[in-house]
Amino acid sequence: MDYFPIFVDLRERRVLVVGGGETAVRKIRLLRKAPVVIRVVAPTVNDEIAALGDTGAIEWRAGRFSVADLSGAALVFAATDIEAVDSAVAQAATAAGIPVNAVDRPAVSTFVVPAIVDRSPIVLGISSGGAAPVLVRRLREQIESLLPTGLGRLARFAESFRGAVKANIADPTARRHLWERVFGGPIADAVLAGNETLARERMMSLVNRPAERPRVEGRVFIVGAGPGDPDLLTFKAMRAMQAADVVVYDRLIGADILDYVRRDAERIYVGKAASNHALSQDDINALLVEQARAGRTVVRLKGGDPFIFGRGGEEMTHLQRAGIAVEIVPGITAAAGCAAAAGLPLTHRDFAAGVTFVTGHGKGDSEPDLDWASLATSRQTIVVYMGVATAGTIGARLIAHGLDPATPAAIIENGTRPDQIVARGTVATLAATVVRRGITGPALLVIGAVAALAVESTPGAAQDANRTPKPTARAHPVAVVG
Ligand SMILES: C[S@@+](CC[C@H](N)C(=O)[O-])C[C@H]1O[C@@H](n2cnc3c(N)ncnc32)[C@H](O)[C@@H]1O
Repeated sequence: MDYFPIFVDLRERRVLVVGGGETAVRKIRLLRKAPVVIRVVAPTVNDEIAALGDTGAIEWRAGRFSVADLSGAALVFAATDIEAVDSAVAQAATAAGIPVNAVDRPAVSTFVVPAIVDRSPIVLGISSGGAAPVLVRRLREQIESLLPTGLGRLARFAESFRGAVKANIADPTARRHLWERVFGGPIADAVLAGNETLARERMMSLVNRPAERPRVEGRVFIVGAGPGDPDLLTFKAMRAMQAADVVVYDRLIGADILDYVRRDAERIYVGKAASNHALSQDDINALLVEQARAGRTVVRLKGGDPFIFGRGGEEMTHLQRAGIAVEIVPGITAAAGCAAAAGLPLTHRDFAAGVTFVTGHGKGDSEPDLDWASLATSRQTIVVYMGVATAGTIGARLIAHGLDPATPAAIIENGTRPDQIVARGTVATLAATVVRRGITGPALLVIGAVAALAVESTPGAAQDANRTPKPTARAHPVAVVG
């Protein structure tokens, strides 16, 4: 290692920042995350530093750097953007034995600042020692996406039980097993999900009954995988897929989504076209219980959002009745994903005051039992899931109940995927559009004035023209030097 990584305790210590511009501000923002005393030396400073000085958040001495400024400093940042000044500051600090970082000048610096992933008290620093800052930034983004935002909360939770665990369990190996069980099971899940009361209850009984042989507890994550584009997976979904021992997945889950599942996880396909179930719902419920009871972390992976026409509610209730820990991970539902991919806003101040999601699929193969009169007369967008087979009937019922036959309608098939089709027509031509464009599903019908805004597309074109942008990781302070 060219640079040796350490974490420095700077509580109540003074850090000197030389410089009053944007480069100095970036360091100051970062430093303010730690309880340090920040002293700025510069003849002039920008508005942000001046405001911090006015409120007493930092000390600012107006003037040029002099060696006397180093007095009492634990660290120094030379951040003037003027090479001669930064080098002089670095030389003086080095001569005084104080670690110094001259921003973007590794040759005269004695330390570098890593890219930081901050889940305090868990803090990760990543550095290439100046070799590849962009690579470091990409790594940081990847790590950001893998670490839950509640990780810090989990560490504090564990800290609050450390004394009790030590007092109750003398054997260090038994203690380690207990912590492994805590961090890899429902207690950690509950903390990360924000349910600390439940986590505390479970932790207390675990700590107070140390003699009990630890039973491995299974759990189920019911995860929404979004409409198809893997970039629309949530961070939470990715983490669950990475933690899975077994993944139970539906027909709408593509291979490119399954690529994100932990490589060693078992994959069980349970299919589900409208009337072609590889397993019945009862069989799926039983399978989930059986897998969780075997102590496994089960991911039940569903298209879109599990609670929107996904039967996630039934599975959740079944698991809860069986006493199995279950967590719901929401996904982007097809309506939201397809609307974005087709450039079609579901609500719009000028065209639609609301949006309603309905199913186009009735019991058996019958038509859906919907309140046609209110759907036809309200000024809203109607999104029909599973409505390809009944498109003609749906259009006819709406028109019969008063909807203008010229009302725009769009059909979006395989939305957000490379083979996306967006076809426009009217509510009167829904069935004809299905036939003309060879739509076989999965597809949504979008009915209402906003449908006129949809951008027509055929496979391939959709990917370039309408694909939703990649989500970016949460912004965090980064300082990569050199
Ligand atoms: C059983 S429902 C599941 C809905 C899912 N839970 C959701 O929130 O999107 C299946 C229906 O969702 C719609 N759907 C799902 N993914 C789609 C996609 N990529 N493009 C268009 N429609 C989609 C279709 O109407 C399909 O028949």
